[in-house]
Amino acid sequence: MRPDGSDALRPRPGTPHFSVAPVTCQTADIMKGLILAGGAGTRLRPITHTGAKQLVPIANKPIVFYGIEAMADAGITEVGLVVGENRDEFVNAIGDGWQFGVNVTYIPQDAPLGLAHCVLIAHEFLGDDDFVMYLGDNMLQQDLAGFVRKFDLERSAPLAFGEDRPPAAAQILLAQVDDPRQFGVAEVDEYGEVLRLIEKPADPPSDLALVGIYIFDKSIHDAVRAITPSARGELEITDAIQWLLDHDYRVMHEVLQGWWIDTGKKDPLLECNRVVLETLQPRNDGKVDGTSRVDGRVVIEEGAELVNSTVRGPAIIGRNTRIVDTYVGPFTSIAADCTIIDAEIEHSVVLERCRIEGVHRLQDSLLGRDTEVIRSDRRPKASRLMLGDHSRVEVE
Ligand code: G1P
Repeated sequence: MRPDGSDALRPRPGTPHFSVAPVTCQTADIMKGLILAGGAGTRLRPITHTGAKQLVPIANKPIVFYGIEAMADAGITEVGLVVGENRDEFVNAIGDGWQFGVNVTYIPQDAPLGLAHCVLIAHEFLGDDDFVMYLGDNMLQQDLAGFVRKFDLERSAPLAFGEDRPPAAAQILLAQVDDPRQFGVAEVDEYGEVLRLIEKPADPPSDLALVGIYIFDKSIHDAVRAITPSARGELEITDAIQWLLDHDYRVMHEVLQGWWIDTGKKDPLLECNRVVLETLQPRNDGKVDGTSRVDGRVVIEEGAELVNSTVRGPAIIGRNTRIVDTYVGPFTSIAADCTIIDAEIEHSVVLERCRIEGVHRLQDSLLGRDTEVIRSDRRPKASRLMLGDHSRVEVE
């Protein structure tokens, strides 16, 4: 349903609606969504040599789906998705957004030139509307709807008598982190006003990192046009928000409730998989034979089969995956169409069509699509590897 209560512009299921031409709604109270999925994903190589990091699954669902669902839950129906060279992969997975109840407009970005550059190229789609900007590889526990409501309320609240302050032009989400040098960092005064923002400072003014979720009004378009590239050659959104502060716009902030994970590297991705698996409703849509055991929070998807195996949750076994004579331990997601025979695996994410056989045991691992890990009795005894560029293997 659209914000005006009608659903007249919604495509019918099955109707392709891959609008590259931007849809611009000029109604002032519309909040749009902008999801950024154009980055190169270098920190998740080799997985990202062949696919987008935002489409790596967490609990068997692509990371970016969580962001789109959060937008839909917050009442946002127009979502722009900034995509790079993996555009077709996103179109295949997301299509027109019907499955999420949103209209998705694809916005191509030729090179990853920074988060503020994404706003620059999305201007036609965004028009003058307020929008939530969401980094496609970020996941957070806090619900987006509350964050959006706070901004809307503040913008529509009447000023108290004698009060003379401009409405907020932006709202940022902050989280306390151990090493702020890896993030954009905010300095907030004792009255809760944001004073200054600085991208990846060598000497951070606080431990409050910018989470990859922001709300902006149309003033941000002036800001992204005014700033120049940073030392890493990117137009930084942090600099654009600083420009707003320098030009007397108000920037509201909220300190995050719950967890926030930037899934761009293997270990945070596994951690995210762990926390999401803990929230799943157990179900068995597959087959579990009489000699198998399923303990705890386990999802077995349609067509999956367990033969003489134990799965100890939280875990998820994907569609048409076959698990034979195997132990699957907690915090493991096995995607669709995998075969696992005579193995032990725990705290890992395995993508589609992998084969694992005779391996005792795998843990803290991320396996890309169509990967095979197999014990061999061939002599001389040795590990025989064929790894993609930037792979990493730890052997016993
Ligand atoms: C980006 C932003 C940074 C923010 C971070 C959140 O960093 O530039 O301000 O704190 O996302 O994930 P990047 O992922 O480009 O290093």
